[in-house]
Amino acid sequence: MSGAGSPVPDLLIALDRDSTVPLHRQIESAIRDRIRTGHLRKGAVLPPTRTVAASLGVSRGVVVEAYQQLAAEGYVTSRPGGYTHVAVDGTAPARGDSAVPAHRPRIDFGYGRADGGHFPRSAWSRSLRTVLADTPDDRLNYLSGHGVPELRDALCAYLDRVRGTAARPEHTVICNGYAQGIALIVRVLADAGAATLAVEDPSSLDDAVPLARAAGLSVVGVPVSEDGIDVAALARSGADAVVLTPSHQWPLGGILPAASRSAVLAWAADTGALVVEDDYDAEYRYDRAPVGAMQGLAPEHVVYAGSVSKTLAPGLRIGWLLVPARLSAAVAEAKLAADRGSPAIDQLAFADFLTRGEFDRHLRRMRPVYRRRRDALLAALSARLPDLTPVGAAAGLHLVAWLPPDLDEPSVVAAALDRGVGVHGVGDNRLGGPGRQGLLFGYASLSERAIAEGVGLLADAVADVRAHPATNTPTVTAHNTSPAP
Ligand SMILES: Cc1ncc(COP(=O)(O)O)c(C=O)c1O
Repeated sequence: MSGAGSPVPDLLIALDRDSTVPLHRQIESAIRDRIRTGHLRKGAVLPPTRTVAASLGVSRGVVVEAYQQLAAEGYVTSRPGGYTHVAVDGTAPARGDSAVPAHRPRIDFGYGRADGGHFPRSAWSRSLRTVLADTPDDRLNYLSGHGVPELRDALCAYLDRVRGTAARPEHTVICNGYAQGIALIVRVLADAGAATLAVEDPSSLDDAVPLARAAGLSVVGVPVSEDGIDVAALARSGADAVVLTPSHQWPLGGILPAASRSAVLAWAADTGALVVEDDYDAEYRYDRAPVGAMQGLAPEHVVYAGSVSKTLAPGLRIGWLLVPARLSAAVAEAKLAADRGSPAIDQLAFADFLTRGEFDRHLRRMRPVYRRRRDALLAALSARLPDLTPVGAAAGLHLVAWLPPDLDEPSVVAAALDRGVGVHGVGDNRLGGPGRQGLLFGYASLSERAIAEGVGLLADAVADVRAHPATNTPTVTAHNTSPAP
């Protein structure tokens, strides 16, 4: 058995060149099996891709693809320019396996996650080192509920410059991602006697909806089309607050048009309602003009919420709120009550990262990467599934493709899973009743090759559904309101 140390000399892989299974899949499954059976132990160093490619007589890209897939599944960890190590024990499940059924998709178009393989490790570790060397001791004490001043200053400058906000450091609250930010806002709304929260329908049902219900608010879904929320229906809802994704509607991908923005802000000014602007992926924009944040138009009526989850990594758990002056103290108090503040060193490291221009550099590097993946997805859909209609592809890390009338989401999702492909139905994000049937594709953490392969398998799955309509209809209903995983 092979443990930590120098690279294992040989992976003992036998390729079957007559097989229809692609070579990278054969390499991947041979290594996965050797890890699972304990022949490659946690910490073992895999041979460099160049060596494996030479010994198997394949191109290096084939081996890289196999290593990347194993890294995505958590079996190995790779550092750019460094060795690839086995990350799990043979007896232990790979990362996340305990929460995932046996039917784990091999190619997962999951919800538009940032690609962790591109996390700027060196630049981040430079920021951490700077902070550890230079930070005065008092910064490591308990802080105010707003977060460290250095980060608030750097963030406000960045957001005003890039997102057109009207940010004030003294009314900014650093939090643990959007998830905590929306929890703080719901807490403050409930404490102030709010009765109803409006959300876009469809929208993400993970955060605001369960939080508001748990706090005793009723939740109203207001219909959205690709052009954004139905403002007349919002006005009729009597809501005290609304959560919007105006720059890239989740999940349909539309932009809230200027006239609707003005109408929403006029409604907020007339009624005293609060607009929560979830600006979750605005940094990624490929072929449309930039759209500024609503908060810049009406900072007294809008809470602007952002996080690094789509730009750097969700595991950092760094987010922020730009809060109207009248709510600033209450939100900061709610943050202190929740956890006494976010980790100071991480906040300071992000401040340094922003100030040194590393965030801008990282985004400049990533835009073409994600754009190529988006283009690969659109090209594959157009070639293999031309009767699906993609929408919302101009920005972000995901798109929706509407299904033709003869296909329904649950059947296609189930048939895709049978072929090892993970896609979600738009229906998972609907609050009130079934609507147009469509699929949601996150493409940011898949290679172009995996995207093409995944769409090919999905096309086979669609052919299965069309060939056997009855056998592919699962028992779940077409409209599933359970929160997305
Ligand atoms: C609609 C939406 N808002 C916000 C976020 C970011 O959430 P967090 O910052 O808690 O990771 C996500 C992440 O997937 C999202 O889909």
